Amino acid sequence: MDVCIIYDTKRGATKQIANWMAEGLKAINGVKVDVARPSEVKSFDYDLFIIGSPIYWEKPMKSVVDFITAHGDDLKDKKVAIFVVCLAEVFGRHAKKYAENHYLKPLENKVSGSLIKGEIFKGWLKNPDDKQRERCINWVKEIAEVAR
Ligand SMILES: Cc1cc2nc3c(=O)[nH]c(=O)nc-3n(C[C@H](O)[C@H](O)[C@H](O)COP(=O)(O)O)c2cc1C
Repeated sequence: MDVCIIYDTKRGATKQIANWMAEGLKAINGVKVDVARPSEVKSFDYDLFIIGSPIYWEKPMKSVVDFITAHGDDLKDKKVAIFVVCLAEVFGRHAKKYAENHYLKPLENKVSGSLIKGEIFKGWLKNPDDKQRERCINWVKEIAEVAR
């Protein structure tokens, strides 16, 4: 299975998270992974797309939204999993629910392809939160199982 992880970032957290996801996927037999920013994607010859964005001022990055909308046709027969990176869960359970409804779902609703379970990852401002590594690895394993 060929997987493309597409992300953008302003301060680096989402890049690190995308790289942890790639690490998790590479450990699975028969899975090949590319990691790219939206402007670097040259081909849609993948079985699964994992697309993620950090949240700034309540919104995902424009580059990611534009990528999803501009490539509706390319993605429509593909499996797609969406993730967002933000700090909402720091503020508790209700904030996590808020992030699901206001950050994750609107991005998922733009996807033309067949959606696989989305996820919210906790980002950071300065120092990488290494606890997220295991969550990333476990999540992509679940996604790969469903996508097979
Ligand atoms: C100016 C600014 C605005 C932010 N706005 C939000 C927000 O509206 N909701 C949220 O949950 N997190 C917010 N965050 C937290 C970021 O989503 C978090 O730091 C994330 O890890 C940034 O990802 P990046 O390093 O890949 O750019 C904000 C952070 C900054 C610096």
